[in-house]
Amino acid sequence: MNTDRIVLITGANKGIGLATARELARAGQTVLIGARDPQRGATAAAGLTAEGLDTRFVHLDVTDPTTVAAAAALITAEYGRLDTLVNNAGIARDWRRSPEELPVEAVRETYETNVFGAVTVINAMLPLLRESPAGLIGNVSSRLGGFAFLADPDSPVWEHATLLAYNSSKAALNAVTLVYARTLRGSGIKVGALEPGYCATDLNEHSGDATVEEGGRRIARQLAEAGAGPSGRFFAPEGGTYSW
Ligand SMILES: NC(=O)c1ccc[n+]([C@@H]2O[C@H](COP(=O)([O-])OP(=O)(O)OC[C@H]3O[C@@H](n4cnc5c(N)ncnc54)[C@H](OP(=O)(O)O)[C@@H]3O)[C@@H](O)[C@H]2O)c1
Repeated sequence: MNTDRIVLITGANKGIGLATARELARAGQTVLIGARDPQRGATAAAGLTAEGLDTRFVHLDVTDPTTVAAAAALITAEYGRLDTLVNNAGIARDWRRSPEELPVEAVRETYETNVFGAVTVINAMLPLLRESPAGLIGNVSSRLGGFAFLADPDSPVWEHATLLAYNSSKAALNAVTLVYARTLRGSGIKVGALEPGYCATDLNEHSGDATVEEGGRRIARQLAEAGAGPSGRFFAPEGGTYSW
């Protein structure tokens, strides 16, 4: 994949999104740091700029269509196209809570960000992705949303198969990925589900065994693989692909 790409990453002010932004910018790509909080977003982008990287903050709350539309308008005016969209913004509200304890509002809130937010951003950015010679959408999913995992008592991470909102939202995101991959066949835009591995971040109370830097490297590698091969694949952190 060429390095001269315009990339938008949602939720890129910290965690895996920020690490992915650093990786892609180090590879020569222009990275737009999507963040819902202007202060946090501007600070993150300034940090990368101070490292000599080509990044800029773009205000974008995936649950607020007004900010998503404004971000699309800004990218249209400034760049005229988008080559890569990374739907990274995500939340987990059910960490260490059983399905019966979890208020349905928490499930709804999780879907608003992890599923409906991604759909909102994809639809807003599709006209820009169509202007790219090789458009790419990477949805940051999780193996915890894979049906193969959810149905496997022998999985090493089976203990996490109880996360009702998070896991089912990622399962829905996987279906969203396949529907767009199917719909965009022949358009030149590829769509894939990505998995950074279990990384220590705020999302999981820093319980992950990998660093965010490793997660960012994995997402960057998976994006390159997603762009180089068939659309509609679910990439595994250690290489290769998962079954859905
Ligand atoms: N950590 C893991 O082990 C792991 C494994 C598999 C997949 N993932 C996925 O990786 C992605 C990144 O997670 P992370 O672990 O890096 O978590 P994190 O450190 O908590 O970062 C989440 C990011 O998403 C942003 N965000 C949340 N709601 C948003 C919204 N409505 N609009 C825009 N941005 C929003 C957060 O912004 P604020 O700072 O404003 O809250 C933050 O920048 C998520 O999709 C997660 O499900 C993580």
